[in-house]
Amino acid sequence: ALRYSFSQKSQNYPRISSSALQIQASFKVAILGAAGGIGQPLALLVKMSPLVSDLHLYDIANVKGVAADLSHCNTPSKVRDFTGSDELASCLKDVDVVVIPAGVPRKPGMTRDDLFNINAGIVRTLIEAVADNCPDAFIHIISNPVNSTVPIAAEVLKQKGVYNPKKLFGVTTLDVVRANTFVAEKKNLKLIDVDVPVVGGHAGITILPLLSKTKPSVTFSDQEVNDLTARIQNGGTEVVEAKAGAGSATLSMAYAAARFLESSLRALDGDSDVYECSFVQSEVTELPFFASRVKLGKQGVEAIISSDLEGLTEYEVKGLEALKVELKGSIEKGVTFAQKEK
Ligand code: NAD
Ligand code: LMR
Repeated sequence: ALRYSFSQKSQNYPRISSSALQIQASFKVAILGAAGGIGQPLALLVKMSPLVSDLHLYDIANVKGVAADLSHCNTPSKVRDFTGSDELASCLKDVDVVVIPAGVPRKPGMTRDDLFNINAGIVRTLIEAVADNCPDAFIHIISNPVNSTVPIAAEVLKQKGVYNPKKLFGVTTLDVVRANTFVAEKKNLKLIDVDVPVVGGHAGITILPLLSKTKPSVTFSDQEVNDLTARIQNGGTEVVEAKAGAGSATLSMAYAAARFLESSLRALDGDSDVYECSFVQSEVTELPFFASRVKLGKQGVEAIISSDLEGLTEYEVKGLEALKVELKGSIEKGVTFAQKEK
């Protein structure tokens, strides 16, 4: 059998691993929005995970065929399909991790915030069902605008009395994946070695790569810092424009979401050396939510690595101050929506 796992330490790409063959598949994962552009390739990557025993695919349409197709892969997880709100509760029963890529993507000329009006309601409804059916699950939110949808989810979970801030994650892994790729290309480094923490949020200038904290240690000229920061911040727009109306990043996003999921499952499985960047409830700044490196454990966020924000360059400090204004507004917009529409 051909199985892969994301490499344990640097987590840069999936690799075939002989130890993966020993792993006992045992976790239940649900993907909400599974028939979509991200949902389908993500489901395929999750189907290849040796840690997953049950893969539940939910969408409002077209999910039956996706599940039938995937179920023929001879990997351990059992695939089931769930269509429409009547089947959402059974999809979520007893799952360990819920991944949410449901919602509309951008077209050229739009910001992620332009998706708020449609996606805020979708996320609220889905999180209500999560609260009712698997309140103890890790929740991975991909639906944009992440800077607002995560605070919406937190409010809904609070209203339902089941909010656990350690288990609610905005998925910002794609920003790290892009940063690693672009830095390795620019500096001619081996991809597997490169790790750039990306903090703040997931939209425009709120995406702040901390290039000075790149591992292995690299020196950048001011021009390189400017160019790399701009490219990482505009990575999503680069794809939206190249797709010219046919959506936003789906394949690289599925890859990034699969990496974040695999890290979460390893943490749930008892691995005590799992770190990922994620947009979570946080006290590292004055904002209630902030993306930074977190240590993952069985109970979710075990620690937030606040030391990444120490000893920043002047450029990064300016970027950090500038992003807080926009990020604060996006967080408040989400909270207001969830409180008002209750
Ligand atoms: P898509 O339109 O291809 O797929 C979305 C899927 O969601 C569709 O299958 C649709 O039927 C489903 N859906 C809609 N309403 C639903 C509901 N109420 N319940 C369940 N499913 C529902 O879009 P996509 O390209 O897969 O992108 C999905 C979302 O992910 C977008 O909001 C996009 O902006 C976001 N995104 C986030 C990141 C990130 O880094 N966090 C990266 C890429 C895309
Ligand atoms: C991305 O970063 O690719 C996503 O957030 C999708 C988008 O709209 O850019």
